Amino acid sequence: MESDFPRIEYKHMGSTGEKVSALGLGTYGISDYKRGEEAFVYAIDRGINLIDTAEIYNTEDFVGGIIKRVGREKLFITTKVWPKNLASRESTIKAARGSLSRLGIKTVDLILIHWPHETMSIGDQIKNIESVQREGLTRYIGVSNFSVQQMEEARNSTNSSEIVCNQVKYNFAERAIERDVIPYCNRNGMTVVAYTPIDKGKASRNRGIKEVSRKLGKTPTQIALNFLMSRQGVIPIPKTENLEHMKEIVGSIGWKLSKEELSLID
Ligand SMILES: NC(=O)c1ccc[n+]([C@@H]2O[C@H](COP(=O)([O-])OP(=O)(O)OC[C@H]3O[C@@H](n4cnc5c(N)ncnc54)[C@H](OP(=O)(O)O)[C@@H]3O)[C@@H](O)[C@H]2O)c1
Repeated sequence: MESDFPRIEYKHMGSTGEKVSALGLGTYGISDYKRGEEAFVYAIDRGINLIDTAEIYNTEDFVGGIIKRVGREKLFITTKVWPKNLASRESTIKAARGSLSRLGIKTVDLILIHWPHETMSIGDQIKNIESVQREGLTRYIGVSNFSVQQMEEARNSTNSSEIVCNQVKYNFAERAIERDVIPYCNRNGMTVVAYTPIDKGKASRNRGIKEVSRKLGKTPTQIALNFLMSRQGVIPIPKTENLEHMKEIVGSIGWKLSKEELSLID
C-alpha cells in the first residue's frame, strides 16, 4: 500500500451498525473487464469495500470476478431487482438467485428494489423483497428511486426488516433531494447512496467547483465527490473502468472542504 495514500473513511449503512467505505464503486456500463478489474483492485486494496451492481446491468459476472480475486470478506455487495421481477414472491426469489449465481456467491449484503413497480402496491413489493432476506439470500434490503412518500409506505409495510438505504441520483448539478429525501433518510437512520455522483464526468464544467478546485489543487471530480461525502449519511458510488480515473476518485477521500469552500459550491 502506498504511504501517501489518504486515510479511508467509513460510514454506517442504515442503522445496521455495519460500516462501509464512505465511497463505493458503481458498475453500470463497464465494458472492458480486464481494465475495469485493475481499477477496482486498486481501490479495494486501499480500503474501498462497497460495490454496486444490478441484475439489469450485465456486470454481476464482472463483480463475481472481482470477488474471486480479492475474497468475499473484503466486500459489501449490493445488487438490485428489476421491477417486473417483483411481481410475485417466486419471481423475486428467482431473480435474486439469478444474481447470486452470476456473482458466484451465496448471499449478497444488500438487495434493492431498483425502481418502484408502476402498478403494484409498495406493500406488496416490500413483502416480496423481504422474502429474499427470509430465504437467506441477502443480509439487508433497501430501495432505489423512491420518493419520501414511497419510503414512508415502504417503512410502514415491512414485517421486521429495516430498509437500510435509498439509492438516488445526486450530484452537484442535481440537488433537489436535499429538500426532502436526504432529511427524511437522516431522520430515519437510512443511508442515501448517491448515483451519477460526478454527473458522468462533467464536474469540470461547473464554475463553483472549478474555483474551489484551483484553490485546493484538487481536481473537479475530487471536489464533486468530496462535496457529496461531506453530507451526513450520503455515500457516492462513481463508476470508472479507467485506472487513472480511479486514482483520482480514491484521492477524493481523506480531506475535508471548509465551510467557505462548501458555500462557494452552493
Ligand atoms: N439505482 C439506479 O437507478 C442507478 C442509476 C444510474 C446509476 N446507478 C449506479 O451508480 C453508478 C454511477 O453512476 P453513473 O455511472 O450513472 O455516473 P457517474 O459515476 O457520475 O459517471 C460515470 C462516467 O464518468 C466517467 N468518469 C469516471 N471517473 C472520471 C474521472 N475521474 N474523470 C472524467 N470522467 C470520469 C466514466 O468513464 P470511465 O469509466 O471511462 O472513467 C463514466 O463514463 C452506476 O455505475 C450504477 O452502479 C444506479
